[in-house]
Amino acid sequence: MKIFLDTADCEQIQKHFASGLIDGVTTNPTLIMKSHRKPDDVYQELKDMGLTDISMEVVADSVLATVKEAHRLHEKFGEVTTIKVPCTPDGLQACHDLAKEGIKVNVTLIFSQVQAILAAKAGAAYVSPFVGRVDDNSFGGLCLVKEIASIFTKQNVFETEILAASIRGVRQVGRAFEYGAHICTIPPTIFDKMYNHILTEKGMQLFEEDWANVSSKM
Ligand code: E4P
Repeated sequence: MKIFLDTADCEQIQKHFASGLIDGVTTNPTLIMKSHRKPDDVYQELKDMGLTDISMEVVADSVLATVKEAHRLHEKFGEVTTIKVPCTPDGLQACHDLAKEGIKVNVTLIFSQVQAILAAKAGAAYVSPFVGRVDDNSFGGLCLVKEIASIFTKQNVFETEILAASIRGVRQVGRAFEYGAHICTIPPTIFDKMYNHILTEKGMQLFEEDWANVSSKM
């Protein structure tokens, strides 16, 4: 059960990584754009921070160009590199080639069970079903996670992990793990909310008041 942060904001990642609860980071072109930084600078900072699993999305117009860029990233950043490719014929062929070389690939933009099947067959280390975006289109994002987990269990797929992406709320995190996701990638704002419960706050308040009472008598 691993938690990744879904952001390219190094300040936020540094803050949360210190908690010891973060197992990796996923980035994408939109998140890199929002960081206003060069992708390689973000990856280098994350590697220097001690992150051991960083999804780096490759945007290229052919299998050859994808594999070439994946090699460059892997040579530069080493074992922390997970290459992210879209679930397209070119993306999956690149995934197949890279997986054969032992390079980890995260197949992204997964919206159906059959796409996850193809990605697993291509040797993906991770398949990323987009829970929130499926929900946005009036289908069940969490059902998709459940369907993929079910087929992977029935077919003894152990090499490909389900990475629930496009998470929009804390409840989805719990459910995604319950339905069989191995990893959830979560925006920092949602990760923060995972700590919260009204009864924890109330309980803390009561304990603090009672402790003040005890302390005044010591
Ligand atoms: C991460 O791998 C995905 O790119 C990300 O979770 C997509 O999230 P969004 O649908 O909120 O943009």
